[in-house]
Amino acid sequence: MTATLLTNIGELTTNVAGEGDPCGTMHDAAVLIEGDRIAWVGAGADAERATARARHDTDADLVVLDVGGAAVIPGFVDSHTHLVFGGDRADEFEARMTGVPYAAGGIRRTVAATRAATDDELRARLRGFVAELHAQGTTTFEIKTGYGLTVDDETRLARLAAEVTDEVTFLGAHVVPAEYAERRDDYVDLVCGHMLQAVSRHARWIDVFCERGAFTADESRRILAAGIAHGLQARVHGNQLGPGEGVQVAVALGAASVDHCTYLDDADVAALAASDTVATLLPGVEFSTRHPYPDARRLIDAGVTVALASDCNPGTSFTSSMPLMIALAVREMGMTPAEAVWAATAGGARALRRDDVGIVAHGARADLVVLDAPTRVHLAYRPGVPLIARTILGGRTVTAGR
Ligand code: NIG
Ligand code: FE
Repeated sequence: MTATLLTNIGELTTNVAGEGDPCGTMHDAAVLIEGDRIAWVGAGADAERATARARHDTDADLVVLDVGGAAVIPGFVDSHTHLVFGGDRADEFEARMTGVPYAAGGIRRTVAATRAATDDELRARLRGFVAELHAQGTTTFEIKTGYGLTVDDETRLARLAAEVTDEVTFLGAHVVPAEYAERRDDYVDLVCGHMLQAVSRHARWIDVFCERGAFTADESRRILAAGIAHGLQARVHGNQLGPGEGVQVAVALGAASVDHCTYLDDADVAALAASDTVATLLPGVEFSTRHPYPDARRLIDAGVTVALASDCNPGTSFTSSMPLMIALAVREMGMTPAEAVWAATAGGARALRRDDVGIVAHGARADLVVLDAPTRVHLAYRPGVPLIARTILGGRTVTAGR
């Protein structure tokens, strides 16, 4: 087994909450990695003793990595992406920038392009996205289906997603496909029946786009309940394009997360605050659709757990950059840099109900990012600059240098 000692860490974000500091910040720190796990976290001055003890116990070869005073954070946890798809909708984005509003129906264009793509084409693109994620410091990511919308296509999208992540979400209820436009009840029956049965063995989660133009609250409840009865856990797309029942549906069903949360009323915020459901904010969508940004400050002040995710998809947010989400959240949504970094790491982990990622602590997965910066604040302070010096995934460096 190989052991790696990261030394000379100027600022370490552990997310092991300390007094008044949810980020559990340490200065002059060191981290020892053994295999794919974190074996020890402590003061740089104690590193030699801790390492000697660990090596005595395991006989591991030791690699010492002096990060030269840089900041180190947990790898980003992107809890919301739609990375298996064919085609491109640059024309739609271009039209939007001249004032054409976004509508959920655009999803059907990507459905057509995805159905027309072969497994190998989708797989090659997906692998490219995974490399893109790693290069930007993301080490855990969820992927949804939702651009197939037939039993066979949804199953193959889930199967392809499962090749690259454990966090696969069945989103057969993304939009009613064109061929079911006149008989939407039949489509809901299919999603709750054969499609769920076929896809669920590749998935951990079930999601519904609960929104005008997609699925009603009643349809959403039915679909989520069917998924839960099938052993999947619930998450919801809600309150993205206008006020609606998405948040209330999610909270009532005990969903892990309700995502978007752009248009909330006081009752939505109160329901979230009284629940375990995370509010996952996706500012790439507001950036790309020119909608107003969600009010993260209002949610955090009410006691809601907030996560940030990219929602990477060809329609509303064709970016996988978590540093961009952090910069937008700080600049446009009232979050402090510390809150935004927490939300993009520990918050994402909560939204996926994971306790082994999003933190730097003994026993956690060794998923770490070394920044080309002295502090995590630079992620918002230097927007658009590639600051990911090294991404460590399960103890192995997958991206180094820029
Ligand atoms: O999360 N809201 C629903 N789904 C995507 C948009 C998908 C698309 O337009 O292709 C989203 O924003
Ligand atoms: Fe989405």
